[in-house]
Amino acid sequence: MTVPAADARSRVGDLPIEVVPTTAPLADAERARRMREPGFGRVFSEHMVTIRWTRADGWQDARLGPYGPLVLDPATVALHYGQSVFEGFKVYRGADGSVAAFRPEANAERFRASARRLCLPELPVAVFVEAVDLLVAHDHAWVPTTPGHTLYIRPLLFASEPELVVRPSEECLFVLTAFVAADYFPRGLTPVSVWVADEFVRAAPGGTGAAKCAANYAAGLAAQAAAAEQGCDQVVFLDAVERRWVEELGGMNLVFVRGGEHPTLVTPELTGTLLPGITRDSLITLARDLGLEVEERRISMEEWEADARSGAITEVFACGTAAVLTPVGRVRRGGAEWTIGDGGTGPVTTALRERLIAVQTGSAPDPHGWRREIAPIATG
Ligand code: PLP
Ligand code: COI
Repeated sequence: MTVPAADARSRVGDLPIEVVPTTAPLADAERARRMREPGFGRVFSEHMVTIRWTRADGWQDARLGPYGPLVLDPATVALHYGQSVFEGFKVYRGADGSVAAFRPEANAERFRASARRLCLPELPVAVFVEAVDLLVAHDHAWVPTTPGHTLYIRPLLFASEPELVVRPSEECLFVLTAFVAADYFPRGLTPVSVWVADEFVRAAPGGTGAAKCAANYAAGLAAQAAAAEQGCDQVVFLDAVERRWVEELGGMNLVFVRGGEHPTLVTPELTGTLLPGITRDSLITLARDLGLEVEERRISMEEWEADARSGAITEVFACGTAAVLTPVGRVRRGGAEWTIGDGGTGPVTTALRERLIAVQTGSAPDPHGWRREIAPIATG
C-alpha cells in the first residue's frame, strides 16, 4: 500500500502532532559523506519524533523536530531499573526509487506486547505507524541507494519519571529515530561461527525473553564476550531449565535446514523465552509459499550436533532485521566443535535470503502486503 505524503498530516493516529522540521538541513554532499560508511546505529537522520505519556493524561505533546540529545534527570527510572523497550525494522529503497517500510504494523504490535510485559503504556498501532510515515517522509533522502544499506527505524519507549520508588513509572517518553545501517555482519554472506553458552542464560520461563526490552541485551553481553574469547562471532542461548533446548542468538533467531530432495526448515517454537522475530515469521511464510515444509518445535543440542555431523542438517542460518539471513558455518560447545555442511553458504539459505530481499525492495511480488510505501514530503 502507499500512504499519502505526510506533510499535510497534523495527526498521528488520533493524536495531534506539532511538526517543526530543522531550520538547518544538511547539504546533499554532507549527507552523502555521512552515509558512505554508516556502521550500525552511528549515523542518524535529521529528525525524530517524541511523544510523552503520563498516567494522568495519557499520550500527549507529540512532536516531530530535529534529531538531538535528550535532557534527563539523573533519577530517571529507566536508567536505574531498566523499564525500557525498543523496536527495530528497516525502510528499503526499491530499484524504482520507491521507499517502503517492511511490516511496521508487526513491529507496532510487538512493541505493545513488550510494553505490556514491562508495565509501560501501549502506544496505539496507528500512532506508531503514522509517526514512522511522518519521520520517513521528512528524512526520505536518508534512505540509502547503496545495495545492502537501509534506513533502520528505532522506536524506543522508556520510563522517564524522576522518582526512584520501584513501581511502574507514572511518566514515559516515546522516541522515534532512524539511522543508516550497513550490513550487520561486514563479511556479507560469509558464514559466522557460534559458541553455545552452557553457563549463561538469556531468559527463563516467566521472564522477559519474549519482550524486546533493554535488560535482555544487557543480560546477554557477558555471554557474547565469552563467545568472542572462544573465537566465535555469536552466542547461542539454551533454555534455562534443562540447558538442552536451542533458543536463539543474542539478537537473532535460528533456523535449521534438514536437506535432501524436499528440504524441511526447523525453527525453535515460541516458548515465551525467545523473541518472536518478524524476519522469522516472514521466512516461515515465504518458505511455505515456495513449497518448503516448516516445523516449529523444540530442537535439542544433541539433535543439532548428531544431525549436523551425520549430514542430516545441511544448513543453519540466523535471521533478524539487522542480520537479514546469515549462515552459521561452525559451532563450538565446550571442547566439541562441528561444521554445518561444508562450512559454506547453502542453497536454501541463499534462495530464502534472495527472496526476502526481493520482497523487501519491491523487486518481487508482495502477496502478503508487507511493504508500506512512504512518499517524501512535498516541497516548495
Ligand atoms: N531475537 C532477538 C533477541 C533479537 O534482538 C532480534 C532482533 O530484533 C531477533 C530475534 C529477530 O527479530 P526481528 O526479525 O524482528 O528483527
Ligand atoms: C535487530 O535485528 O534489528 C535487532 O534489534 C538486534 C540487535 C541489533 C539489537
